[in-house]
Amino acid sequence: MRVAALLMAAGRGERLGGNEAKQFLPLLGRPVLRHAAEALLRDGLVDAIQPVCAEPERARVDSLLTGLPALPAVTGGATRQDSVRAGLESLSALGPAIVLVHDAARPVVPAGTVAAVLAALETSEGAIPAQPVADTLKLAEADKILRTVPREGLYRAQTPQGFRFGTLLALHRSAPEGATDDAALLEAAGHAVRIVPGSESNVKITYPGDLERAEAGLLPRYIPR
Ligand code: CTP
Ligand code: MG
Repeated sequence: MRVAALLMAAGRGERLGGNEAKQFLPLLGRPVLRHAAEALLRDGLVDAIQPVCAEPERARVDSLLTGLPALPAVTGGATRQDSVRAGLESLSALGPAIVLVHDAARPVVPAGTVAAVLAALETSEGAIPAQPVADTLKLAEADKILRTVPREGLYRAQTPQGFRFGTLLALHRSAPEGATDDAALLEAAGHAVRIVPGSESNVKITYPGDLERAEAGLLPRYIPR
C-alpha cells in the first residue's frame, strides 16, 4: 500500500458542546465524518482510510463509511496525539509508504489539496496545507493589549497533513506529549516540513458558527452545473 490516511474522530467536541460529537452531526444531510472521508478520496490518491474513534463508536463509524475503502475503525486515546499513535500502530502491519493525518472535523477539503501534499512529500519528510495569517495579531493579558505581534511568516496549519510513514511512526513512539499537530513532531526533530496552499473553506468545526461555514463550503458541490 502506498498512501494510507488516518481519519481522526476520537474527540468529544467539548468546545462545540451538545449531546453528539461534532464528527457525527449532519451537514447537508450527511455526517461531517463522511464528508471528511470522501474529501480525502476525491483526488483518487488515497488507497485506504483508517478511522480512529472512541471505543463505543467503532461499529457506527464503520457503518458511516460503508462503500468507501476504509479499514475497520480502531480505538483512539485521551489526546489527539494518543489517537494518532494508535492509528499509526494499526497501520504498521500494512506498511504504507506515506500517511496522511486528517481531522474528521474538517469536512471541506478542496480538490487538489491531497495531490499538493503528496507532491511536496517527494522532496520533504512532511507537508501540510496552511493559510497565511490575515488579521493583525495582538498579544494581550486578559483584555489589555501588551503589543502587536508581526504576522509576517505566520501560518494557520490545516489538515490533511502528509508524512513518510516510517518517520512519523518513529517520532510518535518516542515523542513527549503536548504536540497539537503531527508536523510539530517533525519540526522538533529537525525534519523539513513544507507548506502547500491551504484554503479558507477548509474549516475545522470547533465552535457553533463553524457548522454554517462548513455547510456553505460544501454547498457548491451539490449544485448542478
Ligand atoms: N481527536 C482525536 N482524539 C482525541 C482528540 C481529538 O481523534 N483524543 C480528533 C477529533 O475528533 C477531531 C480532531 O482530532 O476530528 C481535531 O481535534 P479537535 O478539533 O480538538 O476536536 P475535539 O477534541 O473533539 O474538540 P474539543 O477540543 O473542542 O473537545
Ligand atoms: Mg480537542
